[in-house]
Amino acid sequence: MNFPKANSFPQSTMRARSMGPNPLKLCEELLSYADIPAGAVVLDLGSGAGLTSALMSREYGFVVYAADLWSNPSDNMRFFEECGLTNRQAIPLKADATALPFAHGFFDAVVSIDSYNYFGRDQSYLGDHLLPLVKKGGELLFSIPGMVRDCHDDLPACLLASWTPEQLDYMHDMSWWRANLSQAEDVEIVDMREMACTREAWADWIECDNEYAEGDRAAVEAGALDYLNTIAVKLRRK
Ligand SMILES: C[S@@+](CC[C@H](N)C(=O)[O-])C[C@H]1O[C@@H](n2cnc3c(N)ncnc32)[C@H](O)[C@@H]1O
Repeated sequence: MNFPKANSFPQSTMRARSMGPNPLKLCEELLSYADIPAGAVVLDLGSGAGLTSALMSREYGFVVYAADLWSNPSDNMRFFEECGLTNRQAIPLKADATALPFAHGFFDAVVSIDSYNYFGRDQSYLGDHLLPLVKKGGELLFSIPGMVRDCHDDLPACLLASWTPEQLDYMHDMSWWRANLSQAEDVEIVDMREMACTREAWADWIECDNEYAEGDRAAVEAGALDYLNTIAVKLRRK
């Protein structure tokens, strides 16, 4: 795939700020399935170190709220400034996805990269916590690290080379996620598909120089990507 927007960020920046498979490429592919106009107010949920927020603000013209639990919003704000973005274009905040401090109907859209599986496995999450914050007709787009087929009862050795069964419990296949997301009222599942850039995004990640990427290398090199995918989800609030 071509990633003109993702690749507009220096590789050193991508490597320094990624927290998993290349979030810039995942985000650019995910947004190719979206219909979000420039100027839209978008929640980047679980934004990590702000790469995808900067991408969406600078390259797509969205007003982005970068909400994350573990990252430092001041650090993210310095990064946005380095990208030439003001606090009217990219707004960093520390927030828990289960207690987001926004009015109902505030967002035109939600984008979540490599994060929804931390809080969204609770099937009441979407309807109780996230959907009310989105305008009627608004889109929600998730890129979720998943499994080609759930294999929790018989985990292959290549997955166990880097992860415990408890960590692998965060990953599920498309039918599991469809059943989970179908529990919410007032939402249309517009599209779910395997993302094309999974192998490329993982290849970029395991080249990163941090202990998490180093830890993930053994599984990838042992063949984990035969069992793992990335699931793109497009929802619309009714
Ligand atoms: C694997 S990182 C991905 C970060 C970023 N989207 C990226 O791709 O680099 C998962 C992110 O989910 C966030 N997260 C986990 N639980 C959360 C919660 N309850 N509320 C908000 N963010 C949460 C963490 O803070 C972390 O930054």
